[in-house]
Amino acid sequence: MNEFQGKRIVLGVTGGVAAYKAAELVRLLVKAGAEVDVVLTAAGAQFVGAATFQALTGRRVWQALWDERMDNGMAHIDLTRGAAALLVAPATADFLAKLSHGFADDLLSTLCLARDCPLLVAPAMNRQMWENPATRRNVAQLGADGVRVLGPAHGEQACGEVGDGRMLEAAELLDDLYASLQAKTLSGKRVLLTAGPTFEALDPVRGLTNSSSGKMGFSLARACVEVGAEVTLIAGPVALATPRGVRRVDVQSALQMRDAVMRTVSGQDVFVGVAAVADYRPRQVAADKVKKGTASLVLELDANPDILAEVAALPDAPFCVGFAAESRDLAMYAEGKRVAKKLGLVVGNLVQDGLGGDTNAVTLFDAAGAHVLPPADKVEVARGIVAHIVALMEKSHGQA
Ligand code: C5P
Repeated sequence: MNEFQGKRIVLGVTGGVAAYKAAELVRLLVKAGAEVDVVLTAAGAQFVGAATFQALTGRRVWQALWDERMDNGMAHIDLTRGAAALLVAPATADFLAKLSHGFADDLLSTLCLARDCPLLVAPAMNRQMWENPATRRNVAQLGADGVRVLGPAHGEQACGEVGDGRMLEAAELLDDLYASLQAKTLSGKRVLLTAGPTFEALDPVRGLTNSSSGKMGFSLARACVEVGAEVTLIAGPVALATPRGVRRVDVQSALQMRDAVMRTVSGQDVFVGVAAVADYRPRQVAADKVKKGTASLVLELDANPDILAEVAALPDAPFCVGFAAESRDLAMYAEGKRVAKKLGLVVGNLVQDGLGGDTNAVTLFDAAGAHVLPPADKVEVARGIVAHIVALMEKSHGQA
């Protein structure tokens, strides 16, 4: 994904052992299309040399306030002009203290003071340094000054202690940086999603399920968080990490999923039913493992409730979005579902184009017709769907 294409990021690296993660972050940024200017403090250079960053960025690294490369001698100002963001990762306790007081005695601190782009910091330090009242004060002050603080995480530290203060991983920083650059089009809005398959038990070890991976629903949850929504994700059994900032509720069966949705739906602005909910469940769940031996076995099944249709029929229903995964006649079935279930939008895809994989090709069906999204990574597709939901909500709001 070229999500940083055309963007220049200034990355400040201060003197902490987590500086090694900054090298990985640079690699990910460059892979995502960003131009990266690394500004290394003297202490940062003790941990990772300028040559590493130069090789990864393909650009010379900035270290001195008096660098002669800028014709006007104004590196401390010019470097952030036109940059999408200035991220300091790792940001040591010492650097946060400097920043919170507005000191400007080296290139990086001066750049922070003279910036005209968003400033983000990723603290990295020993847990006691992080918990120290002085650091707490400094971090609170930075927050009040409009600086975004990413992390830190909890876990094992280089010093051998365990606690808060670990720098976020490079991939997490990349995601947070991307999210910080997005317009908050769903700010103040609450979004509820279902994702993954359901598992309908037959006996203590067996059940009926399907091959939904949950990736599309999880990607949508992530895309909603990126644009500022408060997101709850009700997930069937899947082996996926929870997107950062998402409240997740795990369920197994369709009935459990319906209960979890109904408990949460009040006050939601948007409901997206992405889950591949089993249409039927076994009438009886055997208390003991069913033994083989008979030549055939007949299962009696009962229909499951249609969660999406129930939500859409609520008196104060949120804006409802459904999915239609079909093996043929996509437009006919998807449009039929939209009308029958009274949905604002149906996302249709041919199962051969999406189920289980990392990419998807979808068509969006709304009251105005069909809109084809180009085939892409599921995260990219999810962002396209969210942008469409926002546009439809704005339109309906404008008409209200
Ligand atoms: O009618 P069909 O099952 O194809 O509709 C698919 C859409 O309805 C999906 O959005 C799915 O999450 C939702 N659905 C549901 N509860 C069911 C069946 C489907 O919420 N029992």
